[in-house]
Amino acid sequence: MLSLHRKTPIKSIFGIALMTAALGLTACSAPLDPDVKARQDIMKDYGDAMGIIGDMVKAPDTFDAELLKDQTSFLAEASQNPWAHFENQEAIGNATEAVWSDNASFVAESEKFQQVTAELNNAAQSATSIDDVMPAFGQVGQSCKSCHTDFRVKND
Ligand code: HEC
Repeated sequence: MLSLHRKTPIKSIFGIALMTAALGLTACSAPLDPDVKARQDIMKDYGDAMGIIGDMVKAPDTFDAELLKDQTSFLAEASQNPWAHFENQEAIGNATEAVWSDNASFVAESEKFQQVTAELNNAAQSATSIDDVMPAFGQVGQSCKSCHTDFRVKND
């Protein structure tokens, strides 16, 4: 009886290790915590939206007001979404300890982000060229960077 009970967890640990290896998820030794996964997914989507706007900055003649507004409204709306996924202190992911040890600063960064994404989205509503959103876009980029400086583990 006892030995049977012992076998199960060992097998499932191997199963997870194999699955992890098969999926190429070498950076993590266990499946991602759902909160970590949720906030990383949102962050990736932020990155995609910023990339699309950044492409228009690089090639101003490709300016597309509708495409711009899609990205800025996404950023403004999703700007509130990641923060509830930082409540569990055990779910570290690539966040730094400071998220919890200096939570007031982290919250301030997240509020600043919500403010600047709202401003970017406002500017986008009447934009007729990428120049019209450049200052606000710069502010959003600064906000991403500023938060990552203290609250995201540097991996490069
Ligand atoms: C208030 C803080 C904060 C702001 C603002 C913020 N981030 Fe993050 N970001 C984080 C933290 C913390 C992580 C690490 C999350 C984890 O791995 O648990 C992260 C991770 C990421 C990742 C990696 C996701 C992954 O797959 O591991 C990307 C990409 C990213 N952020 C992009 C952005 C972009 C683009 C913006 C701005 C539009 C932004 N972030 C704004 C805190 C922030």
